[in-house]
Amino acid sequence: MRILIIGDVFGRPGRKAVYENLCTIKQSLKLDMVIANGENAAGGNGITPSTAKELFDYGIDVLTMGNHVWDKKEIFGHIEKDSRIIRPANYPPGTPGKGYGLYKINGIDVGVINLSGLVYLSNLDCPFRIVDQILNEISNHTNTIIVDFHAEATSEKVALGWYLDGKVSAVVGTHTHVQTADERILPGGTAYITDIGMTGPLNSIIGVKIEVALKKFLTQMPVRFEPADGPYQFNAVVIEVNEDTGCAVSINRIFNIEY
Ligand code: FE2
Repeated sequence: MRILIIGDVFGRPGRKAVYENLCTIKQSLKLDMVIANGENAAGGNGITPSTAKELFDYGIDVLTMGNHVWDKKEIFGHIEKDSRIIRPANYPPGTPGKGYGLYKINGIDVGVINLSGLVYLSNLDCPFRIVDQILNEISNHTNTIIVDFHAEATSEKVALGWYLDGKVSAVVGTHTHVQTADERILPGGTAYITDIGMTGPLNSIIGVKIEVALKKFLTQMPVRFEPADGPYQFNAVVIEVNEDTGCAVSINRIFNIEY
């Protein structure tokens, strides 16, 4: 099974990049499933039901989220109704939505789990303990399991990769918007990358207009972040999984640029 995972889709430029890249990639790489991190899909902060629908219409099967999940209040009720959108599983009990799902792809259940890191992010439940609980629930149903770890610190991401090696098919990092070049298959058969990167404006400071983000750094005054315009980048990884064993066979990065 070949699964594409797209790095944080940022605002309208990110959605345009998905629209212009996904159809071709899907055919050329013979993809079975597409997962994307969509927590910045609406204006760079959060997601709305209409931006989610747009991304599903372009061919995405599952949207994962992160620390910006609640930035657009329209999603509060919607996430309860649409199981294709999952938010970090380590949010407190009572939070709307679910942190994982099982999705039927070519007759096979694929588990997708979304977790948030704790370092430099909100003080949520422990992602290591929460993922153990989820694996206890879903490992009887499938051994093809993808984990999106939405986290800031590289050390925390590497740690979760090793913690889950041999227990899931892939641990992929999102959130920093900068693609790392450390993709590999760990000894237990888990595909790993610290960060997939961003699908959004190329000439930007992690998606935001350069002059706006620079003003923040230079003055420490409050600014209104806006997605940058101009050409885009499309960042993703494609992971091939042996669905009999749940082990990853390959992981390859994609970094497409609109010229
Ligand atoms: Fe994030």
